[in-house]
Amino acid sequence: MVILGFSTVLFAISTGALAVFPKSADPDRYGCPGYEVDGEVTTNRTSLTANLKLAGDACNLHGTDIERLKLTVEYQTDFRLHVKIEDADSQVYQVQEQVLPRPTSSSNITPVTPWLNFTYTTNPFTFKVARAISDEVLFDTAGSPLIFETQYVHVRTSLPQEVNLYGLGEHSDSFGLPESNYKRTMWNSESPFIPQNSNLYGSHPVYYDHRPTGTHGVFLLSSSGMDIDLGRTDTGRYLEYNTIGGVLDFYFFTGPDPAAVSEQYALIVGLPAMMPYWALGFHQCKFGWKDLNHVKEVVANYSAAGIPLETMWGDIDYMDKRRDFTPDPVNFPLSEYKEFINTLHQNNQHYVMILDPGIANDPSYPTFERGAQSGAFLRADDGSFYRGRQWAGEVVWPDWFAPGAQPWWTNEIQLTFDPSCGLPVDGLWVDMDEASNMCDNTLCFDEKPSPASTPTPVPSTGYHRRCPPPELHQGLPNRNLFTPSYHITNHAKDHSLSGGTLYTNITNADGTTQYDTHNLYGHLTALATRTALLTLHPNLRPFVLTRSTFSGTGSVAAHWFGDNASTWPHLRASITQMLTFTALHAMPMVGSDVCGFNSAAEPLLCARWAMVGAFQPFYRNHADITAPDQEFYRWEVVARAAKKAIDARYRLLDYVYTALHKASQTGRPVASPLWFAWPGDEGTYGIETQWLWGEWLVVSPVLEEGSMQVEMYLPRDVFYDFWTGERVQGEGKVVTLADVAWDEIPVHVRGGGILPLRVKGGMTTSEVRGVNFEVGK
Ligand code: NOJ
Repeated sequence: MVILGFSTVLFAISTGALAVFPKSADPDRYGCPGYEVDGEVTTNRTSLTANLKLAGDACNLHGTDIERLKLTVEYQTDFRLHVKIEDADSQVYQVQEQVLPRPTSSSNITPVTPWLNFTYTTNPFTFKVARAISDEVLFDTAGSPLIFETQYVHVRTSLPQEVNLYGLGEHSDSFGLPESNYKRTMWNSESPFIPQNSNLYGSHPVYYDHRPTGTHGVFLLSSSGMDIDLGRTDTGRYLEYNTIGGVLDFYFFTGPDPAAVSEQYALIVGLPAMMPYWALGFHQCKFGWKDLNHVKEVVANYSAAGIPLETMWGDIDYMDKRRDFTPDPVNFPLSEYKEFINTLHQNNQHYVMILDPGIANDPSYPTFERGAQSGAFLRADDGSFYRGRQWAGEVVWPDWFAPGAQPWWTNEIQLTFDPSCGLPVDGLWVDMDEASNMCDNTLCFDEKPSPASTPTPVPSTGYHRRCPPPELHQGLPNRNLFTPSYHITNHAKDHSLSGGTLYTNITNADGTTQYDTHNLYGHLTALATRTALLTLHPNLRPFVLTRSTFSGTGSVAAHWFGDNASTWPHLRASITQMLTFTALHAMPMVGSDVCGFNSAAEPLLCARWAMVGAFQPFYRNHADITAPDQEFYRWEVVARAAKKAIDARYRLLDYVYTALHKASQTGRPVASPLWFAWPGDEGTYGIETQWLWGEWLVVSPVLEEGSMQVEMYLPRDVFYDFWTGERVQGEGKVVTLADVAWDEIPVHVRGGGILPLRVKGGMTTSEVRGVNFEVGK
């Protein structure tokens, strides 16, 4: 195999014809001039820099064209190429280093023989990224002019027909992304019923392109609201970015093995956090448990049914007036509550409690008062606290960029959860952190709010206006931060950016604005909570569950997929969502609300879901206040299925725990699609209902209503039935497994795998740890 080395020119000016921009499908873009290289291009052994200038008259489509840009290209490692296009003055917002630390030049890995080549044309400026070994083009911007405006950035890459794209979460669409007429919007949002073709709670602008020749990944490090469009022209396919700001900060990962891309991506966004062992146990939650006695009954019922229960959860029902850190004195009296959690601990069980970032706006509420004193809250442009509506009524929200916010949040957590005097919880759950705002307009607090009105900006009186001039990367001044001309397809009413969330014209304490940092709010809430837990328990691995995420949140927290419904399609979505997060987004500890959150769960659906969840990382049954109870013990068939699946999960716990540890050290996924193990087998590329659990197990559940059979694809390889040990020859085709009982889930071990199995499960993970191992069949 020949690998191109440094004797080869890495930064070549393309010898091909100059790009001719075809008339775009979007007529607005036609006529934009693109950019040209201006002056000298500077190269050294591993990097290239150049200035770019507008190549003609500005088109000012959605803002003002920025005249001068700066291009930086770096071979950061053999496997990672960094291409950044930013404004020459470095004013345009860039994700803060404190949120996502970039590798520094002193990082100890340096390239020796890079696997990618970067080539460019000078006028117009376009670039290509190709595999050095084969010249196979992976990314090519020649098909459309680069547009870099104050409130709109556009770049397109052409794609060959035979690529398979995955990623760009969070979404509930197919795992393999549709080829055309498909839009992924990145704008974190409250998303009941996890609609398809819609933005959901998190933003991960990274895609994996899998081809028979290898897999590579492309990450756009940007928190800006954006649409990523997949489409087709007469000449082929394309993927294009249309953002409402930010810079173009691309990382290209060479793979070429799929799992290598996962590892290369995790190294940039942060290796996944290692979870405590107990977090892999089975969790039970419900919104609407009216009092502590009811919660105790649930625990007792699980025990009586002989179904292992590791962790109980406290939703907002525990709160007095739905205020954080404030147990309801009548229904959840503090001393009894402490005693209850201590009893769980005595039985080797655990307890996790919810917190919402919306803090009741009431001077008599100590948490609010201390936050106000600490300067912890976001302020509106007129200097008043920025107010909205959440479970607690009128609320304010932490400004995670304010110096006082972390100490205040840590203090609240210490005051409430210090085990020597407070509620000795084992982990925290942060919810509604998109941030979700039930107030959609400025009239929320008027006597007669008008439900029909759409969001309007908070009056601007100049508070927080930046004077002296802004620091680098804080964001351009004088933008329309509320209703930019380019509308991303946010699912809020009228695609409003501020609908159902914090107004985007709010300025953070560091001078940046919610317009630019909106997608980071959940990540920052989770990070602040993790930091607080580490202060409280410096020697314990923190467990934080967050609803809203951004690239890199796996290094901070676990995630569940929000408010799904008790339906068969959402059972299937739980698999595609899990695969996207674990394999492609460096977030291993994820799962759905097992049996579904909204609406009533049918027992047979719940039985199948109980088994599917047992082979996914985060395993929690949870339902809405309006949904009937759905604990596993409520139906005989579900209890049977759950017991069997949990027993298998617990016997395999060390196998999974080891995989999780490996993920935390290298980024290798805990669960992945079949093409990760058989990258050359085209039959695996479209599979989204089977998955690899760890590296050796293939799970193939029944997912159709009323069905007792599953169409299962097994690649040409040797397998063993996990349950019976029977040898099964995979033939590279779909086979039908019939008579799959309601308490059965087909699982196969890949030939050559050695499973460290416990001889039996146990009622808790702690009990499992005392059981002997056997080496699997
Ligand atoms: C919304 C969350 O998604 C859900 O899981 C929770 O039960 C409710 N908020 C109430 O806290």
